[in-house]
Amino acid sequence: MNINRNFLQLKDGYLFATVAQKTKAYAAAHPEKKVIRLSIGDVTRPLAPAVIRAMHAAADDMARKETFKGYGPDFGYAFLVDAIRAYYREKGVCLDYDEVFVSDGAKSDCGNILDIFGEDNLVLVPDPVYPVYVDTNLMAGRRIVYLNANEQNGFLPMPDPAVKADIVYLCSPNNPTGAAYTREQLSAWVSYARERGAVILYDAAYEFFVTDPACCRSIFEVEGAEECAIELCSLSKTAGFTGVRCGYTVVPKALVRGGVSLNKLWARRQSTKFNGVSYVTQCAAAAVFSEEGMRECRENIAYYRKNAACIAACLDSLGIWYTGGKNSPYLWMKCPQGMTSWEFFDRLLEEANVVGTPGSGFGRNGEGYFRLTAFGDAAETEEACRRMAAWLRK
Ligand code: MLT
Repeated sequence: MNINRNFLQLKDGYLFATVAQKTKAYAAAHPEKKVIRLSIGDVTRPLAPAVIRAMHAAADDMARKETFKGYGPDFGYAFLVDAIRAYYREKGVCLDYDEVFVSDGAKSDCGNILDIFGEDNLVLVPDPVYPVYVDTNLMAGRRIVYLNANEQNGFLPMPDPAVKADIVYLCSPNNPTGAAYTREQLSAWVSYARERGAVILYDAAYEFFVTDPACCRSIFEVEGAEECAIELCSLSKTAGFTGVRCGYTVVPKALVRGGVSLNKLWARRQSTKFNGVSYVTQCAAAAVFSEEGMRECRENIAYYRKNAACIAACLDSLGIWYTGGKNSPYLWMKCPQGMTSWEFFDRLLEEANVVGTPGSGFGRNGEGYFRLTAFGDAAETEEACRRMAAWLRK
């Protein structure tokens, strides 16, 4: 019996689990302190009323013989797939019915999608990066090359024709840096992928935060992307579904490699390994895309945006460099006084009882940076900013 030895290449703990453990240990040792968590990007606003009503109605459907549902369609109920297609049409993107695959979220699909790619592909990931892209490829034994994202390129690295990658990960607006590619920049990535025959895995989980008209909300807004990209999206951040679990992956039919349709491969993979998302969840998800649902979700996003503005104002007042917070719920700040990411984490926790995420957990280039999330409670976010500022001004 052999285990998958690739797992031995992984760091001991998943970043957010390590942060949670450290926070728990500190809170247990100091029960009198009120610790404020601005670390993992977990939402705090309750679900939109339209979503809750749809969930209740769906639960009632499950209680009656005439409306009860067993296994659903493998790739999502038509009412949800069509709602997603209508949402894309508003962005100027036309999707066929069988190009949309409903899932339990972007994180799982980020890992699962790799099933359809050979293990010998060279993977390109920007550094810093959402750790799931790296870890899932390491688990499969794939070679990874890193692309430097840094202050000089605004944490938005552009393609290097000398790097011959087969799979390219892009996340925009970016986790962890909050930086967002413009349409023009994404267009350069699409050209790179098409010239190389590479495939872009585009994580659009934060698209709902985009306000800058120069930035895209889907890579398929860029001409030619349907021949070289797969888009992974989630309702976690758009609609507060982190605990509900629903997302979708778009695999265009025009995406063909080695004479094989990747759409067909993904359909085959999903129908074999996945039994779909629950009916109740899909009804809730469809309500997100209703006029009322969208309006209510936008109200929640406006609330988080205010938190982002509050953190940004605090960093501005302290003269700390940062990116993000405009088209994104994340602010990516430079650690003050030359501290390393974990030094800043420890001291912020001890001196201000505030938790964030150390930049070095997202890659080598994250060292010396720190991520704060705007998904917290508004009063707590203000309090966290006050405490951080008071500590750093001491
Ligand atoms: C984060 O904090 O980076 C995200 O919440 C993690 C995730 O979406 O899985």
